[in-house]
Amino acid sequence: MINIIGLGYIGLPTALMFASHDVEVIGTDFNKELVYELQKGKVPFEEKGLKELFNNAKSSGITYTTDYQSTDIYIVAVPTPYDKRYKKIDSSYVVQAVESIMEVCTKGAILIIESTVSPGTIDRYIRPVIVEKGGVVGTDIHLVHAPERIIPGNMVYELEHNSRTIGCDDVVIGEKVKLCIPLSVKER
Ligand SMILES: NC(=O)c1ccc[n+]([C@@H]2O[C@H](COP(=O)([O-])OP(=O)(O)OC[C@H]3O[C@@H](n4cnc5c(N)ncnc54)[C@H](O)[C@@H]3O)[C@@H](O)[C@H]2O)c1
Repeated sequence: MINIIGLGYIGLPTALMFASHDVEVIGTDFNKELVYELQKGKVPFEEKGLKELFNNAKSSGITYTTDYQSTDIYIVAVPTPYDKRYKKIDSSYVVQAVESIMEVCTKGAILIIESTVSPGTIDRYIRPVIVEKGGVVGTDIHLVHAPERIIPGNMVYELEHNSRTIGCDDVVIGEKVKLCIPLSVKER
């Protein structure tokens, strides 16, 4: 099962793509109104092919919730707004999401950061959160950095066809994640 955290422009199509390929998906967002709308079957924004993908995912049993799930794969797609004052991105949403994941994840879980952050942000802000929460990176949790490259307009097509960069500590985990990303799901 994959728990996708953040059901916005990036997280929602990602969740729908996995679910449409028969992967068990639970989408989590802390925005109660958004989750309610999704549960009611309302697609929150327009994109070519999104409604169809939404309906396919629904038939495959995708669920939407405000709760973080206890599982072994997480994809974090929360915002990273640019902070003009400090001239850098605000990684606090990602940090908060990782803290919440650490409360529920199973030992050895894979945590994929899909939000737009630099490798330096992973090392300076994300790894320490895991350690502060009592986790050992590479044992209790495997940290993976795979920022999304799609942009609005043709997201559904791009999700399947864009190549991706996957950064990780352990090549075996990297290969596993490679099989996870939507393009590879399609190829299986
Ligand atoms: N939108 C794009 O075109 C685009 C393209 C490429 C990459 N990205 C990157 O993808 C990431 C996500 O962007 P987006 O446009 O999907 O953002 P968004 O604002 O559309 O959606 C983010 C969602 O995350 C939820 N959220 C925030 N913190 C949360 C938490 N701790 N737990 C649960 N839910 C939480 C919000 O309620 C929101 O629904 C960003 O890092 C962005 O830079 C975006």
